[in-house]
Amino acid sequence: MLITSAPMKTILFGEHAVVYGYPAIASALDIYVYTKIRKITEPTLIIKSREYNLEWRYGEPVPKELKPVVEGVIKSIERDFDVKLHKAGIYAEIFSDAPPACGLGTSAGTSVSFTLALLKYLDVHYDKDLINKYAFEAEKISHGKPSGIDNTIAVYGGILKYIKGPPPKIEQLSQMTPLNLILVDTMIPKNTKKAVMMVSDLRAKYSIIDNIMASIGKIAEEAWRELRKGEDADIEKLGTLMNINHGLLSSLGVSSSKIEEIVHFLRNNGALGSKLTGAGIGGFVLGIIRSEAIKEIKKKLNTVGYRYFISSINMSGVKLLKQK
Ligand code: PMV
Repeated sequence: MLITSAPMKTILFGEHAVVYGYPAIASALDIYVYTKIRKITEPTLIIKSREYNLEWRYGEPVPKELKPVVEGVIKSIERDFDVKLHKAGIYAEIFSDAPPACGLGTSAGTSVSFTLALLKYLDVHYDKDLINKYAFEAEKISHGKPSGIDNTIAVYGGILKYIKGPPPKIEQLSQMTPLNLILVDTMIPKNTKKAVMMVSDLRAKYSIIDNIMASIGKIAEEAWRELRKGEDADIEKLGTLMNINHGLLSSLGVSSSKIEEIVHFLRNNGALGSKLTGAGIGGFVLGIIRSEAIKEIKKKLNTVGYRYFISSINMSGVKLLKQK
């Protein structure tokens, strides 16, 4: 039996503008997707998704939720290692700390944790680049044209600056700024495709949108310069940059009354800055906070009844948690 984990992610700065070639900054979270693999006597391969409440066995039609893992990861591994898994005697179970399709990169986390679990179980030679390659294949199946940022951060962890390709330009921080991130769920489903389309329509009608994208790009660059200072980074400045970034995202039309409510709730209760994260409209709102203020804000969040996570930055990426 073995268990692996892969971190989820949040976009700290630069969503939407990243689609137009500007940099975005993403962080791996201390919130995970897990894959547990055990041997079964039955000669087949079964995958169970706890969150989607479904089970698939080799040879059956593949439900759309499992297509990335089956058609991206399993197919690639069978091809590259010349193995057939239809008689493998494997039961794989996938589960996570956060719900699927919430904008925290669950799909990439799933592919990444599943890939490591399967490679480990098969006892073949691999490295993190190979895991990233298979997870990217899976991401292409779930998103069509993924940037690759979600799978990369789930594999390596830490904080990344990302500029869309091809090929994408990815920079990793060598020293880490200790950040406490708060993620509050709007409980409104996010729809990345729709949000990206809305912004694209607005941009086609109003030339000022290009200036807004360029400004978001400048914010991401400035935040990156600050983050590169590691322990010496000015967290207050990062908070203010988040607030400015959020104002610009609102002007693109991707905020909502629920997002605004949470953004201001966080700012009024000790966060140094807050913004929507990811595509917007629904999904999560992100805030940063000093360690001393966590206890108080938790109390307030609990009183209102928001669903939330408080997370530090995951540094190690995908990991083998247990093997026996
Ligand atoms: O909410 P997510 O994790 O799907 O993030 C979308 C980020 C966008 O910049 C809006 C789109 C993209 O492909 O980068």
